[in-house]
Amino acid sequence: MRFSERTIPPEELDRIVDAARLAPSSKNEQRWAFVVCTDRDHLRELAHVGDYAGHLGSATAAIAIVTPNAADAEERESIAFDAGQATENAMLAAWELGIGSSHASVYDEVLARELLAYPGDMRCDVLISLGYPADPAIFERPPRDRRPLGEVRHHERYDQ
Ligand SMILES: Cc1cc2nc3c(=O)[nH]c(=O)nc-3n(C[C@H](O)[C@H](O)[C@H](O)COP(=O)(O)O)c2cc1C
Repeated sequence: MRFSERTIPPEELDRIVDAARLAPSSKNEQRWAFVVCTDRDHLRELAHVGDYAGHLGSATAAIAIVTPNAADAEERESIAFDAGQATENAMLAAWELGIGSSHASVYDEVLARELLAYPGDMRCDVLISLGYPADPAIFERPPRDRRPLGEVRHHERYDQ
């Protein structure tokens, strides 16, 4: 995703975070916090948190998904599932507003913690970069390289 330099109004960013906030979660526990970043220098620094996070550097905003750092593997999975739903909600809300988005996985947790200042018992695995696309035609294009429906859909049982 290539972003234009046009900035996102704060109320639009709020609508995107609100969509994340309203996502369903296991037992409605809502184990998440969303750190909204719009400062240009901060975004450039955040671009170093992952090997494929460079797009944060050209985004006009980012939302870091911050979740509890659970010791229990099952709880970690459950939190990650919920965080995924909140992430997708935010991305769909952005799309609706004509705003493009991309995931950025955190590889350097130490740097992410330093830049985002979340507490020791929390973690950040993913940020969403946001911006108006340089080429608005991306909204017309179908998703690329998806497995065909007939390959992933089954009827009643996996073996049919
Ligand atoms: C959990 C997760 C982590 C991802 N991490 C990155 C990332 O670090 N950098 C990146 O550019 N894209 C990342 N992506 C985006 C995927 O690569 C992308 O959704 C997929 O390749 C499909 O591309 P499309 O959505 O542009 O069609 C991530 C997606 C998910 C679901």
